[in-house]
Amino acid sequence: MWVDGAPRVACVTPVARVRDRAVTTLEGLEPETAQAWGDSLCETGGSQCGFCTPGIIMRLEAQRSKNDGALSAADVDQAMLAHLCRCTGWQTIREAASLVVSGERRDPWRQRSREGAERRAAIEGGASQQVGAGVSLGRAGFADDTAPADALVAVRSHTGEWVVGETLSEARRRVGKVQGRRTTAPMSWPVDVPEGAWDRVLQTTWVEPAYLEPDASWCEPGGEPVSASSNGGAFGAKQHSEVLRVARTLADTHGRAVRVLYAREDVVRLGPKRPPMAIGLRSDGSGVVRVARTPGAAMLLASFAPQLDVQEVTVVGPPTSNDLRAACWAEVAVALASLGPVDEVRAPEGGWASAELNADGSVRVAVRAGEVLDETVLRSYCIGAAHMALGWVRNEAVSVDAEGEVHDLTMRSFGVLRAVDTPPIEIDVLDGFGPPVAASGAVFAAVAAATWRAAGFPDRWPLTRHG
Ligand code: FES
Repeated sequence: MWVDGAPRVACVTPVARVRDRAVTTLEGLEPETAQAWGDSLCETGGSQCGFCTPGIIMRLEAQRSKNDGALSAADVDQAMLAHLCRCTGWQTIREAASLVVSGERRDPWRQRSREGAERRAAIEGGASQQVGAGVSLGRAGFADDTAPADALVAVRSHTGEWVVGETLSEARRRVGKVQGRRTTAPMSWPVDVPEGAWDRVLQTTWVEPAYLEPDASWCEPGGEPVSASSNGGAFGAKQHSEVLRVARTLADTHGRAVRVLYAREDVVRLGPKRPPMAIGLRSDGSGVVRVARTPGAAMLLASFAPQLDVQEVTVVGPPTSNDLRAACWAEVAVALASLGPVDEVRAPEGGWASAELNADGSVRVAVRAGEVLDETVLRSYCIGAAHMALGWVRNEAVSVDAEGEVHDLTMRSFGVLRAVDTPPIEIDVLDGFGPPVAASGAVFAAVAAATWRAAGFPDRWPLTRHG
């Protein structure tokens, strides 16, 4: 939003600070300006879940006015320092900004079908997702958008009780919610490397999926709770979110509609993480994989890499899940790819990708996804997956103490790669034969493998943070 015309991040601006000042949201932009951003983002694939984009549009539009209509890629990257788009990996936002600046107006659907685009988005994201200009303008219909105005609001206390108030501020006041924090607590690698003489070792730690829209649901008494994944799948993290069950129970208890809202700290403390792992391989591809005990992990790994000995390990920490993007198999695919000369990966779901890091740091990916359906959406998901992989190998981690408490509780502390640090990512979509299959998981694994190779295969990820 703009406060007296200057861009500010609404999610960390207390209402008291804007008293007597003019606040402009996306709805206050000239309709043609908003439409130009919506169309351009749809044209380039610069928005997926759409949770981040209204704020990004306001920031970039303010910057464009300040620059007399100009907006270079470097301007966009600088402007994005205060923002986070977890889905798209920034590049398609840079491309959309350049389209807006060029003044070219095109129908983003002139050579595409909305049905194909939404099918591809659902295949890659694992949940239904709308695609269109309206999504980037904040009209995707997030879980909390449709709640009745007089619904009660429930927030969670640190000890796990749900506290209900007439309004969000009342509920928060009653629960004494404190702002999340960033910590200097050290990283830990909770799964020990298996005993043995290994030619390659990889140990991973806790990482936060860092989806933007915190879990939310609402329910009428006796009704069905609203899905927490209303536009996009949060990389698989919301599949078993408790907010639906809590909304239904509280609505029935209070005899009124109840909104149930996670704060960011709840997402980090309670949301599922990739199971931490430790892998030891011999050069012939045999070896041992140790994985934090997670439903389905051992079975998945036994079918993905039957030559490996899989051991489940009990670790203390936040919940882990196999539902997250390429969880478990990507780690093994990366370790196996490192024994050969090229980083190519076939995902269990059928998609294939290869990746290379060029000398200038840029990333080159080739991908096969069966019938493409919509190249813009496929490319957007592949760039997002490549960005996530770069961050995962290099920077991403949250610290978890010996009691299993997570200490990094703010978005900024997760180590997601910023736009200024994200190299150009080139996606080559190869001809697709056969039915459409998800390929962004394969891209994620292939780019992680190439990133690790370029760094010389150090034993622990992330490369830049140490215990
Ligand atoms: Fe940016 Fe989802 S589109 S966070």
